[in-house]
Amino acid sequence: MPTYHLPTLPYPYDALEPHFDEETMRIHHTKHHQTYITNLNNLLSDQPTLNTLSVEEVVAKLSHLPAEKRKGVRNHGGGHANHSFFWRNLTPSSTNSTLSGELKVAIESTFGSVDAFQQVFEKAATTVFGSGWAWLILSPEGELRVVTTANQDSPLMGESIAGPGTEGRPILALDVWEHAYYLRYRNVRPDYIKAYWSVVSWDFAAEQFALAKGQLEAAL
Ligand SMILES: [Fe+2]
Repeated sequence: MPTYHLPTLPYPYDALEPHFDEETMRIHHTKHHQTYITNLNNLLSDQPTLNTLSVEEVVAKLSHLPAEKRKGVRNHGGGHANHSFFWRNLTPSSTNSTLSGELKVAIESTFGSVDAFQQVFEKAATTVFGSGWAWLILSPEGELRVVTTANQDSPLMGESIAGPGTEGRPILALDVWEHAYYLRYRNVRPDYIKAYWSVVSWDFAAEQFALAKGQLEAAL
């Protein structure tokens, strides 16, 4: 029995049109994301103590894996965790999701303004070399940070794996692999990044921020 399953999208494939197109959403979800899951299930099929964990727990414990499994689980477990987060991070523009409350206050206090934050995030996402992700995270020190990771690395993996300063709980995520935008935007990644603001779910981000803050406080 496979352990990990493709999560159902919380909206139809065409719900993010015209910003994120239906064909890309369908292929991205049913082909790319499914492939990460299939490969992860194969990698962990002989690891009964690990394959009962959530994928987020698995990617946070890469050092507990047998050495020969780590690279594969980093790529495919990361792919499953990151895409599972990404789908929920999006919402049809008709839902009028707006940034408000504590997350808005924290973004303004960290970056100066919401516009300034968006510029920092867009620049980070634009300058990821090759395939990767842009994130807004809550760091272990309780600071909001914009960071990027390569390939399918996640801020949950810790900075010894994903890179200095990247460790934290995801609040926002943007997939900047070409498979996320090439059909509609071709090579023009900055236009895809701008379109993200029309379909981002600030409600989901606010939930993640509250959860992340709660976990940090519980750990004190
Ligand atoms: Fe992707």
